[in-house]
Amino acid sequence: MRSPALLLATTAALYPAYAFQLPFNIPFFGGSQTPLTAPQLPGTDTTVPNRIAIIGAGAGGSSAAFWIAKAKERYGLDIEVDVYDKNAYIGGRSTTVFPYEDESLEAVELGASIFVKVNKNLWRAVDEFGLERVDFERDDDGADTMGIWDGHEFALTTSGGSFFSDWLNKIKIIWRYGYKAPSKTQELVATMVGIFQGLYSSESPRWSNISSVVSDLGWSDVTAQTTSEYFDLQGIDRRWTRELVEAATRVNYGQNVDKIHALEGLCSLAASGASSVKGGNFRIFEHFIAESKASVFLNTTVKAISQSEATGAWVVDSSAFKQPRVYRSVILAAPFHQTNIDFKAAALAPVPEQPYVHLHVTLLSTSSPSPNATYFNLAPGTKAPTTLLTTYEGVRVRGGAEPEFNSLTYHGPVRGQDGEARVNVFGDKEWIVKVFSKARLSDEWLETLFEGKVGWVLRKEWDAYPMLPPTIEFPPVKLAEGLYYVNAFEPLISTMETETIASRNVVDLLLQEQFNASICKPSPAVDPAEDAPAPKAEPADFVVGWDC
Ligand SMILES: Cc1cc2nc3c(=O)[nH]c(=O)nc-3n(C[C@H](O)[C@H](O)[C@H](O)COP(=O)(O)OP(=O)(O)OC[C@H]3O[C@@H](n4cnc5c(N)ncnc54)[C@H](O)[C@@H]3O)c2cc1C
Ligand SMILES: *[C@@H]1O[C@H](CO)[C@@H](O)[C@H](O)[C@H]1NC(C)=O
Ligand SMILES: *[C@@H]1O[C@H](CO)[C@@H](O)[C@H](O)[C@H]1NC(C)=O
Ligand SMILES: *[C@@H]1O[C@H](CO)[C@@H](O)[C@H](O)[C@H]1NC(C)=O
Ligand SMILES: *[C@@H]1O[C@H](CO)[C@@H](O)[C@H](O)[C@H]1NC(C)=O
Repeated sequence: MRSPALLLATTAALYPAYAFQLPFNIPFFGGSQTPLTAPQLPGTDTTVPNRIAIIGAGAGGSSAAFWIAKAKERYGLDIEVDVYDKNAYIGGRSTTVFPYEDESLEAVELGASIFVKVNKNLWRAVDEFGLERVDFERDDDGADTMGIWDGHEFALTTSGGSFFSDWLNKIKIIWRYGYKAPSKTQELVATMVGIFQGLYSSESPRWSNISSVVSDLGWSDVTAQTTSEYFDLQGIDRRWTRELVEAATRVNYGQNVDKIHALEGLCSLAASGASSVKGGNFRIFEHFIAESKASVFLNTTVKAISQSEATGAWVVDSSAFKQPRVYRSVILAAPFHQTNIDFKAAALAPVPEQPYVHLHVTLLSTSSPSPNATYFNLAPGTKAPTTLLTTYEGVRVRGGAEPEFNSLTYHGPVRGQDGEARVNVFGDKEWIVKVFSKARLSDEWLETLFEGKVGWVLRKEWDAYPMLPPTIEFPPVKLAEGLYYVNAFEPLISTMETETIASRNVVDLLLQEQFNASICKPSPAVDPAEDAPAPKAEPADFVVGWDC
């Protein structure tokens, strides 16, 4: 695979300042967390049980359960946790399907597919839980080529494989966009990643207001501008931003550079070490929940949540129980407006309307080794690229037609569970292709694109990620006393990893306010009379919440 971000990574050799690759180690010392006596809980009303409800079992909700379990371990807290999800599976927007519904084949991600090395919670979880990472580029067998399609022609094509083609790609890029665009972009991404890494240190801010933390991190100007405004102001080649950077924002977020804020634009470009979990990313979230020992109610819709005036307890009405269940606190780990929960008369902080990108995902298998070249106005006999990204520049500049898809990517052969390529019933090799689009792609369209050689097809519509216009205002993290909202973070950055960070923050806030505790115990105060030992620098692989 060769996304622009990955391409950026491969061009990195040209630019010594490139610094995403952080050293990585595994060690984890979990032995010394002796439970202490339970702290006194606020309020003496025994009718309010020490129970927390989590609505949503995706990245956000499952990790919330995990963080609570970490705190229980460290503080010896006696807290019960119930996780609800209306789906019959754990993972939410992270889930897989089997080609041809054949479980002997290797599963394919239907939603969130990659995370990167600087995503320390997910990276760490994979190692802790004994899962296996698959390199996103493993299918780059040398024949893979990338093209940025504008609806009429290719703005750029690159070839994969050899040292020579790598070198040629760099020349092409520099020739088209200049030397400065890639290096300056890498510098901006590296700065963003550097700030982001601060969220894993023990000094990471804890926030009850996303605007404030954005401002503290120095991100207000990047969230307040569109990606193109921000890049233009940095003096970066305009065409680079509108073609190559836009290819990344369109494949990752279905939005153009003149619409999406620059922080998410930069995140779209940080793809170094792109990986997914063998068997499915959802396995991380299953492990989070299993480790947490929370009770899970799948296939269970939460219909209403109200607050008892007498006790302040939260009353959750779901399809799982005849009687509503009572909680001290509730964590909402799903996009607020999509939950359809009736909050009755509860006085909540207002959550602004949040439109999501309605994305059509089409997964298919084809025996056509590359898409129909004629469709792309290439000479017959020419091989079309197998990683097709898109730009809106053809519409902006020429008033041309918008590409009919956001991205169309070959993801290697249909494989068996053993990782070996399989042939179809006709004895032909097939490839897995993933297409993202704004509208439904008809069977006829697919037949044209793959020259009548389409095998299995699966369509799924997602409310994939928020529309991310420039903003400095974000939804509230705390909706009411005891009611917290993980997905308030999504209009800032929407990824699996950032949902685990948002949930860590919410759990810390909840524990502090409701249980006088936290995920990590505060480090003991040093007696100023004694020779204070020099503070030890945290190792590079330190991850707050895991290592404390
Ligand atoms: C096609 C696609 C590609 C993506 N690619 C990537 C990628 O490569 N990398 C990446 O990091 N991110 C990617 N994302 C974004 C990523 O999926 C999300 O940011 C992340 O998974 C959100 O996790 P979450 O737990 O906050 O929300 P969700 O995963 O949406 O979980 C919320 C859960 O709440 C449940 N729920 C809602 N209402 C109720 C109710 N009333 N009662 C009970 N349960 C309820 C839902 O069923 C759902 O399971 C992609 C998303 C899509 C759709
Ligand atoms: C968050 O902080 C900003 C200023 O930093 C303020 O304008 C806003 O009202 C605060 N929001 C909430 C929900 O407290
Ligand atoms: C989910 O619950 C509904 C009833 O609410 C039931 O009809 C359906 O079979 C259940 N599905 C699964 C997968 O458990
Ligand atoms: C390839 O695409 C062209 C143009 O869209 C179309 O006319 C042609 O039928 C396609 N070829 C096949 C074999 O489907
Ligand atoms: C909260 O916990 C700290 C120790 O972690 C303790 O010193 C303090 O007294 C507790 N406060 C309340 C109100 O229980």
